[in-house]
Amino acid sequence: MEANPTDTSGQAPAKFAGAGAPLYELAGLERTFSKGGMVVRAVRGVDLVINSGEMVSLEGPSGSGKSTLLQLLGALDSPTGGSIRFADRDLAGLSDKSLTKIRAQDIGFVFQHFNLIPTLTAEGNVAVAMFPNHVHSHERLERAKELLNQVGLGHRLNHLPSRLSGGEQQRVAIARALANRPSVIIADEPTGNLDSDTAKEVMATLIALRESAGVTIVVATHDEDVASLTDRRVRMRDGEIREDSAA
Ligand SMILES: Nc1ncnc2c1ncn2[C@@H]1O[C@H](COP(=O)(O)OP(=O)(O)O)[C@@H](O)[C@H]1O
Ligand SMILES: [Mg+2]
Repeated sequence: MEANPTDTSGQAPAKFAGAGAPLYELAGLERTFSKGGMVVRAVRGVDLVINSGEMVSLEGPSGSGKSTLLQLLGALDSPTGGSIRFADRDLAGLSDKSLTKIRAQDIGFVFQHFNLIPTLTAEGNVAVAMFPNHVHSHERLERAKELLNQVGLGHRLNHLPSRLSGGEQQRVAIARALANRPSVIIADEPTGNLDSDTAKEVMATLIALRESAGVTIVVATHDEDVASLTDRRVRMRDGEIREDSAA
């Protein structure tokens, strides 16, 4: 993998280099919400290790805690108990500023509803993701082009999202997620809005990128066909891990 051009800090490298080494280590992880006097244990006592380079699906019915767990993995939320290590850092012990930096440099997100900016072209949507990391504008556009080529959208660079199909929009979102050369892509029901053929195409894009970009992928889905395309399947129910094909 290329060096991260934005890392001029001279501090420990932001990228986690150890392929095959644990990227995530979760122990007794808890996320409890209090809602109208009721307590919901959305994630309860989760122990999980995800190695660098793995492609893992998180399956389970609606309400089983998939999104809550992904938010914790994505450093978008903090646990109420237990520990979560990411790339040898204890996420629970980090400041908001450090978490923001990790999200910007090390984690790519893909959502069910694509979340593209409607007034920007495909290229613009990918380029804008590099803004927080102070990449020069011509370099942003070059990299955006390169990534859109990689996801098979080299012919759609100047299209607005409204001119793209659902599958194409999701592939733009995948290119955007890779913009800052993250260690991991966190995808929450990325095929939830797509028909089954398009879902397979989007999964094929992720699978190919996982190899070419050497990125770890965690994808939440309630679709059996989607989960079966990943090499490790983790099943959740009521906030707990009930089954792990790697176990
Ligand atoms: N911000 C929140 N406040 C209160 N309850 C929440 C919140 N987020 C999730 N929950 C609850 O946590 C449980 C798990 O939700 P979620 O992680 O969204 O499951 P899934 O993604 O598997 O559908 C549900 O009971 C949900 O209502
Ligand atoms: Mg969800």
